[in-house]
Amino acid sequence: MKHFISASALLFAGLLVGLPAAAQREATLTIHPSQGENIISRNIYGQFAEHLGTCIYGGLWVGEDSPIANTRGYRNDVVGALKELHIPVLRWPGGCFADDYHWEDGIGPRSQRPQKVNSTWGGTVEDNSFGTHEFLNLCELLECEPYVSMNIGSGTVRETADWVEYMTADNGPQAERRARNGRKEPWKVKFIGVGNEAWGCGGNMTPQYYSDEYRRYATYCHDFSGNHLFKIASGASDYDYEWTETLMKNVGNRANGLSLHYYTVLGWNGSKGNATRFTDDDYYWCLGKCLGIEPVIQRHIGIMDRYDPKKRIGLMVDEWGTWWDEEDGTIPGHLFQQNTMRDAFVAALSLNVFHKYTDRIQMTNIAQIANVLQSMILTQGDKMVLTPTYYVFKMYVPHQDATFLPFDLKCDQMDVRNERFTPGRSQDEEPFRHLPMLSATASRSADGFIHVSLANVDLKQKQTVTISLDGTKAESVTGTILTSTNIADHNTFDRPQTVHEAPFTDAKIDKKDKTKLVVTLPAKSIVTLKLKIGN
Ligand code: AHR
Repeated sequence: MKHFISASALLFAGLLVGLPAAAQREATLTIHPSQGENIISRNIYGQFAEHLGTCIYGGLWVGEDSPIANTRGYRNDVVGALKELHIPVLRWPGGCFADDYHWEDGIGPRSQRPQKVNSTWGGTVEDNSFGTHEFLNLCELLECEPYVSMNIGSGTVRETADWVEYMTADNGPQAERRARNGRKEPWKVKFIGVGNEAWGCGGNMTPQYYSDEYRRYATYCHDFSGNHLFKIASGASDYDYEWTETLMKNVGNRANGLSLHYYTVLGWNGSKGNATRFTDDDYYWCLGKCLGIEPVIQRHIGIMDRYDPKKRIGLMVDEWGTWWDEEDGTIPGHLFQQNTMRDAFVAALSLNVFHKYTDRIQMTNIAQIANVLQSMILTQGDKMVLTPTYYVFKMYVPHQDATFLPFDLKCDQMDVRNERFTPGRSQDEEPFRHLPMLSATASRSADGFIHVSLANVDLKQKQTVTISLDGTKAESVTGTILTSTNIADHNTFDRPQTVHEAPFTDAKIDKKDKTKLVVTLPAKSIVTLKLKIGN
C-alpha cells in the first residue's frame, strides 16, 4: 500500500519557526485505479446508540404518544435524516450501560417494565420503555444490522444465552415469549459484543480473567434457526497492547472480532476542552491526536497478525470520535456536546485512516449517533439539527463497500507540538506529531465511479491539488464541499444551517490529458469528488 507525504514546510503550531508560510499550498495525489484490492466494508460507517443522556430517549425515541411526529415511537425527522447516511450497523445498548443492563427489564408491556437508576450516566431514571423490540425494530426501520452488547460485568451466562435465544430462535420457550410480546418472527442478529471495556466499566477485569470469562460466555451464545453470530471480544483501549496480546493468545479465533476504543480527547482527568471555544493551536493539536489512531491501529494489527496471519479476526473500532466538556447548562454525565467544523475534520481524517486498513478493520462505530459526544444529530424538544459530522458521513456514503484505491500523496506537513505530552506517560505519545496539510482517500464503487475525498486542514491557506489517475481517463467530475467561515462554526437550534454541504465546482479535468485534474480547495474544507471514468 502506498501513501507517503513529503514535508515542504515545517511549522510548529502556534510557534512558527523557520520557513514562512506560502500564500497557497500545493499537493499532488496519484491514484492507482488498477491496483485496488480491498473492499471498504460498509460497516466502517457504523453507529453507536447508548442509554446515555438523550441519545435514545428524546434523540431516537419519543414514544407513540408524543406530540413530536413519530412512527411507532421513533422520531420521523431523525429517522429520515439517518436514512440518508445508509447506516450499516448500530451498536446498542452500550457502552458502560450494557454491563448494567438486564434485558428482561425491557420486554413486555411498557407500563409494567421496571424502572432503574442509570448509575453510570448521571443517575437518570431509566424506564426501560426502549428495549429489545424497540431496538431491533429500529434497525429494521433503518435497514441496518444490529450489534448487541451483552452484559458480562453484572449479568449471568444464562441471561446472555436466553437473550440470544429470545432474539433469534424460531421455536422454544423464548420464541414463544417473544411472540406473546408481539413479535413472532425471530430477528437476524449477527453482531454481539461479549462485554464492553472489560478492563474498566465492564468489570475491571484483568486480560487473563476476561479471556476466561469470554470463553465461558461465548460458549453459550448459540446459533439458532439459521442465525450466525459474529462474536466480538471486548478489546483494548488506546495503547494497551498487552490486552490485545493476551486476548489473541487466550481467546484467539473463539472470537470473530476484537474491539478497540480510541477517543480524540485531551485526557481523562480535568477539563477536556470546550467544543466550540478553542484556539488554532487547539485545532491542530486535535487533528494530531486524531491521527494518533493510525500508529495505535498499526501496533494492534501487528499483534493480531502474529497470531492470525490470515486476518480472520476483525479489528472493530467500536468507539471513536471527539470527547469535549459537556455543554454549559446540560446535565452532568449526559455527555451532550456541540459539534463544529473541527469535529468534521476528525471524522474525515479518521475515516481516511480506517480505509487504509480494511483488510483487518471490519467495523467501526462512532460515538454516538445522537446527542452524545460526536453526534450525527442534536435534538431539543421537537427541533433537530444535523451536525458537521453528519455531513461528512453523508459525503462519504459512496465509499461504503467500494474498492479502496491505493495512492501516493505529496503535501506539506506541520509538526504539531503535543503540549499535553508527559514524558513516560505512554510509549505512543510523542512531543510532536506530524500533521499532513492534506488528507485524502479514494475508492471505486460497484457502478464504476471513482470517488475521491480530500480535506485541506489548513485554517488559512487554500490548496491546489493536482490529481493523476495513473493512466485512467476521467470523463466528467462533480463534487460536494463542506466548509465554513470559522472553524468553530456549528449548527444550533436557532441557526441550523450555518454549516452544510454545497456543490463544489473547482475541480477541472485537464483538456489535453484527461488522466489529470486540478482541484482548488479553500482553507479548512472537505470535498468529495465523483469521477465518471471514460475510455
Ligand atoms: O461512549 C461513552 C462511553 O465511553 C461508553 O459508554 C464507554 O464504553 C466508553 O468509555
